[in-house]
Amino acid sequence: MNKLQELQKITDSVDGWLTPREGEFLYNAAKKCPKGTVIVEIGSWKGKSTIWLGSGSKEGNRAVIYAIDPHTGSSEHRKSFGKVWTFGKFKKNIKKAGIADVVVPVVKTSEAAAKDWKKKVGFLWIDGAHEYEMVLLDYKLWEPHLVNGGVIAFHDSQTKGPRRVVKKHLYCGSKFKNVGFIEGVTYATKVGRITAADKARNLYAFLLTTVYSLAGRVPLPKFVKVIGNKMAKIFQAN
Ligand SMILES: C[S@@+](CC[C@H](N)C(=O)[O-])C[C@H]1O[C@@H](n2cnc3c(N)ncnc32)[C@H](O)[C@@H]1O
Repeated sequence: MNKLQELQKITDSVDGWLTPREGEFLYNAAKKCPKGTVIVEIGSWKGKSTIWLGSGSKEGNRAVIYAIDPHTGSSEHRKSFGKVWTFGKFKKNIKKAGIADVVVPVVKTSEAAAKDWKKKVGFLWIDGAHEYEMVLLDYKLWEPHLVNGGVIAFHDSQTKGPRRVVKKHLYCGSKFKNVGFIEGVTYATKVGRITAADKARNLYAFLLTTVYSLAGRVPLPKFVKVIGNKMAKIFQAN
């Protein structure tokens, strides 16, 4: 069994919504996190994404993961499950996965954790509350700490709140290049300023994600689906 298969087996037993391909993306991003920077995770739940991040980090520069979550769930969890407290399970799962030595749990909201934050962030993973205002707040609070060359990624970026933020600030903004997606994750690399070519590529990628997402829902002509899917693959992480 190789490392990724082993990780899939471990994370399969952890409650959460992340798919194996999304997990693999986090693993690789954490592995490449630049020296002298840390990883910030907003929204840890019971540690599924934290385990992929921690394992990737240990294969790379051992960037510390600040796992920020008040552990009281998001509004949709409280609606479904009532009172939520995930910190016990989170600690147990990261310990069992052998990554507790690279994880600093921060039992706070992202807003409280951002106060007095000083560390340089090399990878910013946003998977907290999914309402538009909350995703935007996470972006505005944490993006300034992301170094140039660092990577930002949003989960559930096909859903309303994250999708609006990703569209405005990644695909159509002026700070990120090489926007891509892998299943529900949209990611991009921060740069000081984007070139006209980067901007055109981002817009092109946006059009393709639109075709790609429509391809599954609307009866498009087959040739449009085939071309859309083929082109979209170019913009997906491998
Ligand atoms: C979708 S879950 C995260 C799933 C996790 N990334 C995984 O892969 O298993 C969303 C989490 O965001 C947390 N959350 C909600 N509001 C938050 C906030 N303002 N700051 C940080 N975390 C928040 C919730 O407690 C919940 O655990």
